[in-house]
Amino acid sequence: MKLGDVFPDFEAETSDGKIKFWEWSKDSWSIIFSHPADYTPVCTTELARVAKLAGDFAKRNIKVIALSIDSVDSHVGWIKDIKKYSGMQESDKFPYPIIADQDRSLATQFGMLDPNEISGKTGLPLTARAVFVIDPSHKLRLSLLYPATTGRSFDEILRAVDSLLLTEEFKVATPADWKVGDKCMVQPSVPDSALPEMFPKGVEKVEVPSGKGYIRMTPQPNVD
Ligand code: BEZ
Repeated sequence: MKLGDVFPDFEAETSDGKIKFWEWSKDSWSIIFSHPADYTPVCTTELARVAKLAGDFAKRNIKVIALSIDSVDSHVGWIKDIKKYSGMQESDKFPYPIIADQDRSLATQFGMLDPNEISGKTGLPLTARAVFVIDPSHKLRLSLLYPATTGRSFDEILRAVDSLLLTEEFKVATPADWKVGDKCMVQPSVPDSALPEMFPKGVEKVEVPSGKGYIRMTPQPNVD
């Protein structure tokens, strides 16, 4: 899958019943994140973290869905551990579905398998820690691929999504380590002549030896 490709529609069994992906993600941004297997320690911390961040994803109109190569019954049992680990009550509804990709067909189709991480149970490659951020028109907008042994930073995923949502609306880009509220950079395609109208909060050029004036900083357009 390349950035900008249309993410294929698919049907899957999940811990919340059968879904058709495009119908499920209709009119929302969505994030699919995959896991090596159920009842594994790093995965448990990751799914618990995403459960804790459910409100943060919802307020950005982002639906999240996990994928693991075990059965729905296994997911349902594992969710009890994840709830406990994240401090939820057993009776709380788990905030997002987990896809049961037991035959690995989706993991294979989406390039999520890690040939270097072999399951001790089956001798087959496990799923890597993939993240796909998909926009409301089903286009892939961001992807990450981590090995099984490295848990992801969901703060970073939220930060990257905030940048995506911002740069969708305004002709800005976000610099290294940017976070919401920090200054942004005017995109290189914007001519200097358009700056006063497009960036009424002002633009400041950073002096560098080339003198090319290409580093143009501006306050984040949609915060006061
Ligand atoms: C884990 O989730 O803890 C894990 C899974 C596969 C390999 C290593 C770690």
